[in-house]
Amino acid sequence: MCTINQDQKNAILDEILATRRSYRMFLPVIPPEDDIRRIIHAGLLAPYAAAAVGSSKDYFRRFFVFRNGSASMAAVQPLVFRQVTAMAAALDHDMADKPRLRAQAVTFAQRLSMIQKMGTVPGVGTAPYYIVVAEKKGFPPVGQQSLAHCLENMWLKATALELGFQLVSITAQLGDDPAFCEILGITAGEWELAGCAVGFPKDELSPAIRPAADDVTRWMD
Ligand SMILES: Cc1cc2nc3c(=O)[nH]c(=O)nc-3n(C[C@H](O)[C@H](O)[C@H](O)COP(=O)(O)O)c2cc1C
Repeated sequence: MCTINQDQKNAILDEILATRRSYRMFLPVIPPEDDIRRIIHAGLLAPYAAAAVGSSKDYFRRFFVFRNGSASMAAVQPLVFRQVTAMAAALDHDMADKPRLRAQAVTFAQRLSMIQKMGTVPGVGTAPYYIVVAEKKGFPPVGQQSLAHCLENMWLKATALELGFQLVSITAQLGDDPAFCEILGITAGEWELAGCAVGFPKDELSPAIRPAADDVTRWMD
């Protein structure tokens, strides 16, 4: 039986929603494993596309936790970095004769180039935990949307636990990488992937600034 009233529930939820931020700097201290379990449990409570994955006997979501300093982290780090290099090269090639794409993708291309210069992918080895979430591909192919719900639940739970959370979106590109999937113990090409980093934040961030709902909402007649 829940002991808090509706106002209290909303005050807590509003506080968590407002303080959820992207943390990109972490303390080297490793958060308790139980916190990571609670974050994963929150992910499991997220909605999923039942019609797309419904017939699978095997459970369709999996979580892989990499601890900083572990052998598995050392094994995946160069594979994730290699993906950034491949993506940057493919984008450069595509942008060369496509001015429209060049205009659209300039910020993203700069980000890839910055990561290449850093020599490490933010969140992979820069935080105590890198968590990969896998969802079995189904039909229609809505795995990435489904994973986004899962990751948002994990993010909100991490916020409630006062842990920092960072999306590592390059992880999505690694579902077809045989070496990466072999480390996870899954078959390449069969799963959609998403990733995040979790740890104690190095500095506190102020609540997110967003426009007022009325400034971006049109009530239709
Ligand atoms: C689809 C998507 C992919 C993202 N990928 C990354 C990422 O790879 N690394 C990262 O640090 N932040 C990533 N972000 C976080 C956004 O940059 C961040 O949410 C945005 O700047 C707003 O900041 P806030 O999360 O602190 O409110 C991603 C967000 C979305 C929605």
